[in-house]
Formats: sequence, C-alpha cells, structure tokens
Amino acid sequence: MIRLKQTHVPLILLLSILTFGAANLLYGDDDDDDNDGKSGEHHSSQSSSPSTSKKVASKSQSATDLGAPGYTTLYKEECTSCHMAYHPALLPTASWTKMMASLKDHFGVDATLEAKTQSELLKFLVSGSAEKNRSRRAQKLLKSLKGNTVPPVSYSTTSYFKQKHHEISTGVFKRKGINSAANCLACHPRAEEGGYNEHEVKIPKG
Ligand code: HEC
Ligand code: HEC
Repeated sequence: MIRLKQTHVPLILLLSILTFGAANLLYGDDDDDDNDGKSGEHHSSQSSSPSTSKKVASKSQSATDLGAPGYTTLYKEECTSCHMAYHPALLPTASWTKMMASLKDHFGVDATLEAKTQSELLKFLVSGSAEKNRSRRAQKLLKSLKGNTVPPVSYSTTSYFKQKHHEISTGVFKRKGINSAANCLACHPRAEEGGYNEHEVKIPKG
C-alpha cells in the first residue's frame, strides 16, 4: 500500500507539470490574441452593404481593425506624397511628437514643413494615436512598447511588427512590388483604412 502511494506521488507531479506545460503552450502565446475576432472580421470584410456596415465597422474596430482614420486634406497633401498614408493609430503619441519634431531628417530625407502645418498635422496624428484607439491591435502594440524608453518612429521596426511578420523572410520585403517592410499597402490591401486582417493579406510575387 505505502509503496504504491510513493510511486504515485511523482507520477501525479509529472502529470500536473505536463498539463501546466500544455496549458501554457495553448494560452500563454500572446501571438494568437489578435485572432479572437476572426469570424467577425471575416464577415465584416465581405459585407459592405450600407445597412449593416455601421454595426460591423464598430465591431471590427473594437476587435482588430484600427477603424476609419479620418485623414485630413492637409495630411493627404503633406504626408502621402512619398509613401502610403500611415494610420495615426499605428504609433503612440510620443512617437508622432518625436517624428514631427525631427522632419528635417525623416528616414534620411528632408520632410520639413512650415511650423503651422507641422503643428496642425501633429494635432491630427495625436488625436488618433494608438492611445486613443480602442482596437485590440492598438492596445497590443502599446503593451508591447511598455518599458521602452525611446518611442519608436517607425512601426516596421517594432518588436510587435517583427513578431507578426516573423514568417516573412527579408528577401520578400525587397521584392520589386514591395520594396520595404514599411510598404504595408503592398500586402495589406486595406492598410490605409486601418485594415490589417491577416486573412486579407496578399503578398506580391515579384
Ligand atoms: C519627402 C518624402 C517624405 C515625406 C513628405 C514624408 N515621408 Fe514619411 N517616410 C519617408 C521615407 C523615405 C520613409 C522610410 C520608408 C521605408 O523605410 O521604406 C518614411 C517613413 C515613414 C514612417 C515609418 C513607416 C514604418 O513603419 O517604417 C512613418 C510613420 C512616416 N514616414 C510618416 C510620415 C508623416 C506623418 C509625414 C507627414 C508629416 C511623412 N511621413 C512625410 C519619406 C517621406
Ligand atoms: C510582404 C508583405 C507584408 C508587408 C509589407 C507588411 N505585412 Fe503585415 N502581415 C503580412 C502577413 C503575411 C501577415 C500574416 C502573418 C501571419 O499570420 O503569419 C501580416 C500580419 C500583420 C498583422 C497582424 C494581423 C493579424 O490578423 O494578426 C499586422 C497588425 C500587420 N501585419 C501590420 C503591418 C503593417 C503596419 C505593415 C507596414 C508597416 C505591414 N504589416 C507590412 C504581410 C506583410
């Protein structure tokens, strides 16, 4: 009897370790959280009829879509001549503040603006920054940046981006139709509207 019990104790321990380990694998991986709204998102991307779009849009914003960016004419004029329109919720307030204060050396190019234009654009970016966005996507980005002392000025170099794109080799980002990891629009057709659902991704072949 006693001997039997003693052999059971390590066995139970082993079993519980195994179960905990499996639970960690299943639930501990942060990477999967953004997929919670999968079915809802899929639905939202297909139904574009005006009667349902309102409800669906708010649902998708609170899930993973960043929602309508509300680009101003000024933003379109000044910030989309060299690249796609980056949604304000892609970066936190500190990032936009830093970026707008250093336009003289903006990723190696001079993107200087008049002071008034610059402050108006900053106001627009800050009003829609990640902190103001209720989507899970923006909240996850902010969470991933916790502890960073220097705010990132680019989304494509954040660890969150790297985590989401670890399956894509650097060679793919260099393809002619893509050019750069910063060219979100090449692979995410609704990037400018804040749609980054993985099910809509189309990677250009050449
Ligand atoms: C004169 C051209 C030019 C203008 C104007 C310009 N940019 Fe850029 N921007 C660039 C270049 C070049 C890059 C680097 C792109 C790359 O890495 O492929 C960049 C990168 C960025 C990135 C980082 C994207 C990422 O995730 O890597 C953001 C955000 C950005 N720009 C926002 C803005 C905003 C906001 C404005 C308007 C105030 C603006 N840009 C105006 C040339 C420009
Ligand atoms: C070469 C094509 C490519 C480019 C360029 C690209 N992405 Fe992606 N992105 C993907 C693919 C493929 C996935 C899906 C990865 C997976 O689930 O394994 C993805 C996933 C994501 C996700 C997570 C989606 C989800 O449903 O979980 C986000 C957010 C995202 N990308 C944002 C961006 C942003 C922002 C940029 C530009 C700064 C960008 N991506 C540039 C291909 C690209």
